[in-house]
Amino acid sequence: MESGLLSFLTCWSIVTAPVIILPYKKDQTKVSKHLKVLVEAGILKYERQGRNIIYSIKNKEIRDLLVSLWIRDVKPCCDGRQISGVCCEEIENKLQDKKENLKNKEWGKRMDATEKKEVIKKKYQDIATLGGSCCSGRGCCGDLSAADLSRSLGYSEADVQAMPDANLGLGCGNPTAFAEMKPGDIVLDLGSGAGFDSFLALQRVRSSGKVIGVDMTQEMVEKAQENARKYGYSNVEFRQGNIEALPLDDRSVDVIISNCVINLAPDKEKVFREAFRVLKPGGRMYVSDMVLLADLPEDLKNDCDLLSGCVAGASLKEEYLGLLKKAGFSVKILAEDSDISKRQYGGLPVESLKLKAWV
Ligand SMILES: C[S@@+](CC[C@H](N)C(=O)[O-])C[C@H]1O[C@@H](n2cnc3c(N)ncnc32)[C@H](O)[C@@H]1O
Repeated sequence: MESGLLSFLTCWSIVTAPVIILPYKKDQTKVSKHLKVLVEAGILKYERQGRNIIYSIKNKEIRDLLVSLWIRDVKPCCDGRQISGVCCEEIENKLQDKKENLKNKEWGKRMDATEKKEVIKKKYQDIATLGGSCCSGRGCCGDLSAADLSRSLGYSEADVQAMPDANLGLGCGNPTAFAEMKPGDIVLDLGSGAGFDSFLALQRVRSSGKVIGVDMTQEMVEKAQENARKYGYSNVEFRQGNIEALPLDDRSVDVIISNCVINLAPDKEKVFREAFRVLKPGGRMYVSDMVLLADLPEDLKNDCDLLSGCVAGASLKEEYLGLLKKAGFSVKILAEDSDISKRQYGGLPVESLKLKAWV
């Protein structure tokens, strides 16, 4: 295969993702000419979805061939450059890991809920222990730092600077910025990660209040506990647990916050029922989460990177809102960030939804 085409494929992450999305109207570019050749050659297939065209590798045989050619012939497209302060060696190591994973990955395998949870847990174990981010760019060379991601989501410079070890750049919004909380409130953070939003909530509920963070990944819980010690927070508790079966009593919480987590839970109906159960009468929940604006093809829904990257497990927006109401909540959409699709998700049909739901 012509090496320019192969570099093109790898640079667009099509081998690793494997998907590329182009706005339909702009489909007259050099990129689309390359794609046309690849479709005609039987390497890619495409599907039109709304205003986008989704290109993906045609089948497992082609994918395996591309991976082996790539491993043999192609250097990472970012070779010799520094991108967003990340040195190329680091990027090359990441790509090497991806190649190894790809060699072992089963094509088009449908995962059940337990397998999906394991994939997600493994990813967040790695992030807690090795660093990195999940919901950041999928492109070949475009990862933003955690601090830059948080700035783009509206966190203040003071917050970003104050607790760098608690901010892993995993959020898709800034729920404490729009959550109503007061001194004395008991706050629950669903999927608390390394504790960033929990600590920000703590500053609002003061010493008379309390924050409880729940996360299913033990390594994340330990990291959050270590951060609480490091930054001197005492009235915060991190518990290992599944947000589909919360380790909390009925009617024990004033406010729930959650940042980019519920999309990862296979049974969102259970999550919302549990949230409703633990909230006190008059309690409220503030959520920032990824939702789909159009359904994804089945192979993408089972893509490990997209799953742990907060996309493949997301529900369609209307379905998500319907499940909240079914659990008993009244719901108000506070904001919708569809630009995040371009900033962080390579144009996939997703947005970050910010909402208030109350009992
Ligand atoms: C994208 S990160 C967000 C972390 C944090 N909210 C933040 O903004 O930094 C998702 C977190 O949710 C946790 N998680 C995923 N699925 C979960 C589940 N079903 N129950 C509890 N925690 C879960 C992961 O372990 C991970 O720490």
